[in-house]
Amino acid sequence: MPAPSPSTALSPSPGRFEIVVRHSRAERISAPLNSGNAIGSLTDGDGAPLVPRFPLEHATKNAKTATAATHRRITGGGFEEKLGTPRKPWRVTLSYGSYLKVDELLDLQQPLSQPRHHDEMLFIIIHQVYELWFKQLLHEVDATMAALDRDDLLRVAKHFRRIHAIQRLLEQQVDILETMTPQEFNQFRDNLNPASGFQSVQFRELEFACGVRRTDLMRRIELGDAQRARLERRSNEPSLYDQVKSLLARRGFAVATSEELVESYRQIYTNESQNYDLYLLLEDLIEFDERFLLWRGRHVRMVERMIGQKIGTGGSPGARYLESTLAHRFFPELWDVRTYLGSGAYA
Ligand code: HEM
Repeated sequence: MPAPSPSTALSPSPGRFEIVVRHSRAERISAPLNSGNAIGSLTDGDGAPLVPRFPLEHATKNAKTATAATHRRITGGGFEEKLGTPRKPWRVTLSYGSYLKVDELLDLQQPLSQPRHHDEMLFIIIHQVYELWFKQLLHEVDATMAALDRDDLLRVAKHFRRIHAIQRLLEQQVDILETMTPQEFNQFRDNLNPASGFQSVQFRELEFACGVRRTDLMRRIELGDAQRARLERRSNEPSLYDQVKSLLARRGFAVATSEELVESYRQIYTNESQNYDLYLLLEDLIEFDERFLLWRGRHVRMVERMIGQKIGTGGSPGARYLESTLAHRFFPELWDVRTYLGSGAYA
């Protein structure tokens, strides 16, 4: 029997889920899900994966694999009958824990301090949570760029609503870290040397995706092959900044130079009713940029509060280096154009 290449459609029904597994031979099996583990890879109605690569092998706890030479219908965690014979509904179970991989997630916090320092757990969790939100931000930025490419500005606005909400959260999370005093941090800081947020690949990906491409920093970060490939891809692809310029060009605005871009922005702002969708887009973009800068500013103040003017574990001059990063803007011309709006003395 050929190995199945499962894909599934998920349709919720009251109190339980119903998944439909499609095999390479176009077999369909309905499976009401209760609790426990699940089978197949879950996809939404459009076929987008909900859980990437949720393998059939994990169908049962007592896991004889469902992809073994003979595939069997599984009922209540046990094997029942070969696929290919007439089948009744196939009962498998999915739980909160198995769907979200909670056990694996909770295994990922591994403090190094000996004896254990109470605050190291917070330090690890907060960084991990940031990385998860960076992942979601990248996901949203990618979708935003695709929507821009399709001239679908309503969808862009929807993505930015979520992006801004996440950015607000990222800034607020610093409050939690600041419940740790410098004395407490110093008691385990040596354990993390030379690790630093400076080495966050997803943070660099975000910067690259949006148009701040400090590619020289790649030489200062130890990167695995896949990480390097991701950053290289990001640095070669059109950025969010590029996508915005392309959209404006399609709408007849000049974007070849920085000066032209400022002038195009000025026209959009001053003729807002003719360009209302672009006008709202520009406000979303400046808010995105501002919130990124607010996080940078919040981080550098927090760093100064924690370690003063000490050098960073990543080897930079610490707060002094971070202060210099406040100059990085994704949409510099959007900041510039403010000077030329309305009345007032221009430089
Ligand atoms: C006690 C808490 C923290 C301290 C003392 C701290 C300190 C520093 C320092 C000194 C740097 C400069 C690079 C270096 O030499 O290490 C840096 C960079 C960075 N940190 Fe933190 N950090 C803290 C928490 C965080 C958290 C929670 C995040 C969230 C992911 C984070 C993300 C970053 C990023 C992304 C950079 C690179 C910034 C850039 O190059 O533009 N840091 N941090």
